[in-house]
Amino acid sequence: MGENDKYNTCFGGDITYTSFVGYLQDANVFNFKQNDAFNEITEHIGDLQIQHGKDMYKEICNLQMIDTKTILRLIQMNDTIGNPIKYKIHDDLFECSPNSIKYIYYGLLNIKCILHNQLNSFDFIEIGGGYGGQCIILMELFKIFNIHINKYILIDLKEVVGFQEKYITAHNLQEKCVFLPYEEYIHYHFSDNSYLLSSYALSELITPIRHEYYNNVLKYTQHGLVIWNNPNGIDLNKSYIEISHSCHNIVGSFLQF
Ligand SMILES: C[S@@+](CC[C@H](N)C(=O)[O-])C[C@H]1O[C@@H](n2cnc3c(N)ncnc32)[C@H](O)[C@@H]1O
Repeated sequence: MGENDKYNTCFGGDITYTSFVGYLQDANVFNFKQNDAFNEITEHIGDLQIQHGKDMYKEICNLQMIDTKTILRLIQMNDTIGNPIKYKIHDDLFECSPNSIKYIYYGLLNIKCILHNQLNSFDFIEIGGGYGGQCIILMELFKIFNIHINKYILIDLKEVVGFQEKYITAHNLQEKCVFLPYEEYIHYHFSDNSYLLSSYALSELITPIRHEYYNNVLKYTQHGLVIWNNPNGIDLNKSYIEISHSCHNIVGSFLQF
């Protein structure tokens, strides 16, 4: 593999992480959520995201795990920092980023899996966590559901974990976090029985990098959730079930193991 191959994705061509990484390297943590290069990779904007926001809000309500006041508080946590583009999604909600709703929905799916498997005092690993929004929402959900984690380990490209550290520190939630660059994770000593989350990340990496993670990280994760969006098929090396949902036009599958 060449030095720059790590910026390529499974989609091939010019769909790469290069501009995203270049942008996050120097981005201002209090005003970064409206940039085009950034939005193409993680925040996404437009009518489809409004639809996803509506559908995911409905799924959050169906789960009956948190009340509207808590949903509003979680959205506000993620939307106060970074200046996102906001939309009216539902009468219950003030204008917000659909991505914050996504992080609450996926956060709750993880909580459900953790509670179901009665996990406590474990390391939570997130591969490819974008700017860190999923992490701050999950940290709050862990508190609400009395789940004790030892560490929240974020693995991403070095410039991206550098930014995640700034974002999560701006929320003062960095204490339990380990910011682990992809370029160095191989030397990290993972604990057995760790939990894995990867949403639109592990699945969209190029095959050799994804398989590197299978061999060096997933062998330590007994349970987890992978939001899978690789159009070439699923090669996840776990015995998983697919979570059903009623969201329209969502790319990919929700794989729980
Ligand atoms: C499409 S974004 C998904 C972000 C976030 N999980 C979300 O759902 O909003 C893909 C993420 O994978 C990260 N990524 C790219 N190469 C990676 C690698 N080799 N190891 C870990 N993460 C990587 C990107 O930097 C980005 O954070």
